[in-house]
Amino acid sequence: MGDKVLNGVIDKEASLAGLHQTVDGPDGHFRQNNIDALAHIHIIYTTRVSPTTRLHVFSRAIFDIIQPMLRDLFFISCACATMAFAADSPVKDPTFSKDIAPIFQKACQNCHRPGSIAPMSLLTYKDARPWARSIREKVITRVMPPWHIDRNVGVSKFKEDPSLTDDEIATIVAWADHGAPEGNPADLPAPRQFSDTDKWHIGAPDRIISMKTPYTLKAKGGDEFLDVDIDPGLTEDMYIAAVETKPDLGFKAIHHATTNLVEDPEDDPVGLFLNEYAIGKAADIFPPNTGRLLKAGSKIHFNLHLHPVGTETPVQVSLGLRFFPKGVVPKYVAFTQHMGDVNELDLPAGQISRNDGYFRLPRPAVLSAFQPHFHTLGKAQCVEAIYPDVRPDSARPGPARTETLSCVSNAQFGWSLTYPYADDVAPVLPAGTVIHVITWHDNSDHNPHNLNPKNWKGYGQRTIDEMSFAWISLFYVDEADYKERAAARARALGASY
Ligand code: HEC
Repeated sequence: MGDKVLNGVIDKEASLAGLHQTVDGPDGHFRQNNIDALAHIHIIYTTRVSPTTRLHVFSRAIFDIIQPMLRDLFFISCACATMAFAADSPVKDPTFSKDIAPIFQKACQNCHRPGSIAPMSLLTYKDARPWARSIREKVITRVMPPWHIDRNVGVSKFKEDPSLTDDEIATIVAWADHGAPEGNPADLPAPRQFSDTDKWHIGAPDRIISMKTPYTLKAKGGDEFLDVDIDPGLTEDMYIAAVETKPDLGFKAIHHATTNLVEDPEDDPVGLFLNEYAIGKAADIFPPNTGRLLKAGSKIHFNLHLHPVGTETPVQVSLGLRFFPKGVVPKYVAFTQHMGDVNELDLPAGQISRNDGYFRLPRPAVLSAFQPHFHTLGKAQCVEAIYPDVRPDSARPGPARTETLSCVSNAQFGWSLTYPYADDVAPVLPAGTVIHVITWHDNSDHNPHNLNPKNWKGYGQRTIDEMSFAWISLFYVDEADYKERAAARARALGASY
């Protein structure tokens, strides 16, 4: 990709939003300088917003170059998206009853109904009508339904992808723009039925392990950390096929809840990380023939990070498990771990900062899920694989091959979502691959969640401190299996890209 093309991208972006001056930079040299820098960048990606409009979202490298303008780029994205969707509705004169209710049933009502986690119901026309404008904005920016991964960078196929199609978004936009009409109630689909198990992404669990009694969190004050140990009375070894941690009470006050497996309380009272809940986070559903061993006699250790919300709040958390059938031993043992931790964060006031962390895979591995982790300042995170040099004996081994695996480019505080890769395209990486985690924090006053943009911020456990790492679920495979899986993945990507 040459300078000219990049130049064109920037020109187009800038002129679309009337921000040419901004992109040019105050000194008039900005663009030229950066085009020079861009000549060294190999990843520029293109976001397909609609079938007819292409929107160029800049790569991670450009984030660095134009950090101060990051928010303007997001603004540009929104502006372009609005134009594209308004022109593209696949349905003429959509109505709530006929066209919108089926989308809400499928994509919104599980949360937007009385008793669930969202602030308002979207079950009926009367419920939804006052929110039409806000709904339009949230779906067009892909803030709702919560699924904030960049759909067009890196791996683009996921398990349990709840996001709307471009056509569905265009239909909602056209509906809102034409006065959000009800239409004929006779067109309404039958109401969706909900059961308790709808809160579980893993389906009905085989076993639910809960905190025995709710904990009452004070109304005001600093964060609290609560440790709870539970003996579920396991009498035989079991393999877990899917696992999920979910609050029963106190959604709003729970910053996160982790669950650990404690096999030997004397030797290791904290145990091995099993799973984490953070708002909106889905489950770990392990790939076929892959599981986690739950040894007989193991205890479950819950660690809750709680944030008072103004009223006294009862808090209770459960762990849901689905097992392999008795006697079935999966070939691979899966686990989830931090990668690319940066514990010396230096986030000056008023700025967007980038931090890079690394993790080297000791053996060939399959990555099955990704979740960025940061706190209120988290703006974006990308994960790339830096492959080991394939020609180590060459005098000129050339640049390492890299592959961007995933980016969350417009992170929303409060939504710590896990993105489970579809099995056929999940990254299959050779031993020695370096996982490179790149995180951007916005410590400026443009970040609505920044409580004090005048303060320097650094690493720490509290919600008001920051963190920077990726949760990666993975399992190691042997060399022969690696080769077979890597070839199968290449075929799958060739077919769908
Ligand atoms: C996983 C649960 C979940 C799903 C699915 C979901 N929402 Fe939400 N929604 C929430 C929560 C929680 C909030 C409040 C917190 C926030 O804004 O992040 C919210 C907020 C909103 C708001 C902003 C309300 C306000 O106070 O301004 C709108 C509009 C909205 N959702 C629309 C939708 C639509 C439309 C869909 C489906 C296309 C949808 N949501 C799917 C959980 C969900």
